[in-house]
Amino acid sequence: MGWPVAHSRSPVIHGYWLKKHGIDGSYGLLQVRPENAVAAIRALPDQGYAGCNCTVPHKHAALLAADVVDDLARRIGAANTIVVRGGVIHATNTDAEGFLQNLVQGANALLREKFIASTQGAGHAGFLVSAPEFRFDAGPAVVLGAGGAARAVLVALLDAGVPHIRLANRTRTRANELAAELGHGKVEIVGWDEREAALAGAALLVNTTSMGMQGQEPLVLRLDDLPETALVNDIVYAPLETDLLAAARARGNLAVDGLGMLLHQAVPGFEAWFGVRPAVTPELRNIIVRDLGGK
Ligand code: ATR
Repeated sequence: MGWPVAHSRSPVIHGYWLKKHGIDGSYGLLQVRPENAVAAIRALPDQGYAGCNCTVPHKHAALLAADVVDDLARRIGAANTIVVRGGVIHATNTDAEGFLQNLVQGANALLREKFIASTQGAGHAGFLVSAPEFRFDAGPAVVLGAGGAARAVLVALLDAGVPHIRLANRTRTRANELAAELGHGKVEIVGWDEREAALAGAALLVNTTSMGMQGQEPLVLRLDDLPETALVNDIVYAPLETDLLAAARARGNLAVDGLGMLLHQAVPGFEAWFGVRPAVTPELRNIIVRDLGGK
């Protein structure tokens, strides 16, 4: 459910899983005007729906419409997943989990690749050493942006154990509000003009702004001060390889694209509606990459 909603890739993702698991169900698009969103969500049980996803601008309406809002959705201040159970409307938010799963699985796959490349021919006893894993407590994170997406990312990072977050947003007051609401003293606001200096010593850099997205302004960010050991993640997935990710890779940083967040945020919803926990497979990813225009 969204407004507009035609661009959504979710029917392809859920359609793939429905087919894969032989489930007699369907996932379609509901184009609903903002002023009708609460009523449309309230009407889901009577219409026989197991639930829905809510995308922009309905993520707040989802909170208002639900009978039961879970703690995560309340903290993030938005719900993207509605589950109807016994006629009761439950709201949750799976964006934080999608973000974390993408980051952890993406980073660990890259760390494994790097580890294997480094051990080849080096005479390592492969059975005695294993690839390092990404650690959220490795050091401070720099987060760019304080919009809707940043809320889920901040909650996710704090829950995952990131010790300190430097938050930079063009509109400083938005960042202040976010830090006051979610920060627990762990979020430091840095000026938008200080975003490059804030990269010094960081273990993780996440872009949650819309900059760098197709049709949007480019993200201007020199990475000179970012340690080479830092992981870089862009939640923008169109294009898949943003300028930020390309620049990070070119200087030796590990970089994870944003498509996996879209795929992983869909998993808990599908499981709740259809009773099977689906897998994010390379095949599914390739289908969505092709759907996005082969980039
Ligand atoms: P979303 O829900 O996708 O996060 P949003 O709430 O509109 O969308 O937030 C967009 C984010 O990108 C914001 O952090 C926004 O900064 P402001 O809070 O200052 O608006 C940021 N953003 C978008 N365009 C930008 C630009 N040209 N320069 C700097 N930041 C920009």
